[in-house]
Amino acid sequence: MIRRAVITGTGHYLPERVVENSWFEDKLDTSDEWIRTRTGIERRHFAAEGETTSDLGIRAARAALDKAGLQPDDLDGIVLATSTPDFTFPAAATMVQAGLGMTRGFAFDVQAVCAGFVFAMANADAMIRSGQVDRVLVIGAETFSRIMDWTDRTTCVLFGDGAGAVILEAQEGKGDNSDRGILACDLHSDGKYRDLLYVDGGVSTTGTAGQLRMQGNLVFRHAVEKLAKTAHAALDKAGLTPGEVDWLVPHQANLRIISATAQKMGLPMEKVVLTVADHGNTSAASIPLALSVADGEGRFKPGDVLVTEAIGGGLSWGSAVLRW
Ligand code: UT7
Repeated sequence: MIRRAVITGTGHYLPERVVENSWFEDKLDTSDEWIRTRTGIERRHFAAEGETTSDLGIRAARAALDKAGLQPDDLDGIVLATSTPDFTFPAAATMVQAGLGMTRGFAFDVQAVCAGFVFAMANADAMIRSGQVDRVLVIGAETFSRIMDWTDRTTCVLFGDGAGAVILEAQEGKGDNSDRGILACDLHSDGKYRDLLYVDGGVSTTGTAGQLRMQGNLVFRHAVEKLAKTAHAALDKAGLTPGEVDWLVPHQANLRIISATAQKMGLPMEKVVLTVADHGNTSAASIPLALSVADGEGRFKPGDVLVTEAIGGGLSWGSAVLRW
């Protein structure tokens, strides 16, 4: 028997304000038609003034705890993936911990930009499998609207704010791929691609938060090449084939990247969870948001094989394979 990290609850929160593509039309040389056809995005949510990443994370966390039937103090720790924390420090995760009224355990942030949730989940999975902890809340929460250059049509139409959360709990498994829970993860970074996607400010450089800069078409090419590769690698590690995948839950950056990845994996689009139209790219929040939305609709059945994959600034990319 071995320990497995099983998802026992999901939750999400989206800020109230919804912004349609048409909102950008009188501000920038862009159109609903361009955004829709090049990205699949139709609308996104933006946080209200004063609404922070940890505020979004707390609401998503409460929903996930409710779903799992747990209280905050049932948790051993919180791992929160974000690139847009409330403050330089302390970690946004500690603010979520306080906001939940959780009085025990640990809380820390993981920063791997859009791939952050996969990295955070891999981290929590390792802690659970090693026996260090039994229950971890893993959150992806972002307020990318705070680091947009609103004069740059090539980036500001793409991103949105939101948060998603999952509870990972230790359960006994047989040690083969019929077990429930996370079966394999595959993580990568390559820092030589920094200039393709970065924020032009920071604590030890400009002393400001900075704004997002991206060479979108180059990131696009890396995404199409690397995402299917990492998904295949994680499936290999789990001893599974793409034919055995029930659901692809991809990072929601661009519908064309998602379709190309699904095609490379030989998966029909009916097996792909899509939220990009309504959420835009919410960076580390996009996968847990998609998981929570699909779970809320009852789309995953016990025993289903799920693959998640993401790529973002770094470049950093990776995937996780799990059985629901
Ligand atoms: O989550 C982190 C990872 N990030 C991503 O995965 C994003 C990856 N990249 C993409 O999704 C796509 O590259 C974009 C959606 C960002 C851009 O789509 P593209 O098909 O790669 O377009 P492009 O950058 O090659 O630009 C094509 C044209 C350009 O005009 P010219 O030079 O051909 O005259 C752009 O200036 O589209 C223009 N363009 C726009 N036009 C209207 C760029 N942004 C816009 C816009 N509205 N918002």
